[in-house]
Amino acid sequence: MDFDLSIINSHNPYNIDVEKFIEQFYGFIQLNHLYDSAIRQVETKLEIIDNEFQSTFQRNPIHNVQSRLKSPQSIAQKLQNKGIPITANAIIEHLHDIAGVRVICHYIDDIYAVAHYLSLHDDITLLNRKDYIKHPKPNGYRSLHLIITVPVYLSTGKKIVPVEIQIRTIAMDFWASLEHQLHYKSDNEVSDELAQQLKVCAETINDTDLKMQSIYHRLNKMD
Ligand code: GTP
Ligand code: MG
Repeated sequence: MDFDLSIINSHNPYNIDVEKFIEQFYGFIQLNHLYDSAIRQVETKLEIIDNEFQSTFQRNPIHNVQSRLKSPQSIAQKLQNKGIPITANAIIEHLHDIAGVRVICHYIDDIYAVAHYLSLHDDITLLNRKDYIKHPKPNGYRSLHLIITVPVYLSTGKKIVPVEIQIRTIAMDFWASLEHQLHYKSDNEVSDELAQQLKVCAETINDTDLKMQSIYHRLNKMD
């Protein structure tokens, strides 16, 4: 698209390099499309896994899937914290969580099953795996985190795009959502005593997750 830059330049009190600004602006729009496409790829893969489970085992491992693109504010903040200039290239190079997909499963076993079936897709590459279920964070946080890449086919060729996937049970999600809100909403620091209570809640939730899974196994004669 061609603009008559002289019109903008005549009303440019801050002397912004308009040509560069427009180039960056289009760069960001293209980036948005790229990461949004990567999310769709992952969502489709998850839907296929879930549907196959349904037709093979007559049940769904996935309760629901939530996806988000990291907000421009968070992107800027994260790059600033790392002391990196805010450009489209820096985003691609340094941030792996622009595209985020959260998979909420019914049982703990389902988390590992979904991660396993995803890993069988030969267009997916695993960049990083953090198992906060086997190794919970000190505050009690549990989830399986994967950073993967998926190909996205554009008119200019194939792009390999990173996506952060968080896989957790409904119970783990319940805890993580409230814990996040408590930190985010409260102006006060969470005291040691309240942090300890939150951790106890995480342990209780984990016990319940394990019990629910055991009930499921016994009902289905899997033990
Ligand atoms: P980020 O810089 O936040 O991406 O952290 P990281 O690169 O060390 O990655 P990590 O895998 O630890 O965390 C990534 C994401 O997991 C966060 O952005 C949150 O969405 C989620 N997460 C991690 N730790 C916690 C936690 O203690 N509580 C909650 N509620 N969410 C968490
Ligand atoms: Mg993050």
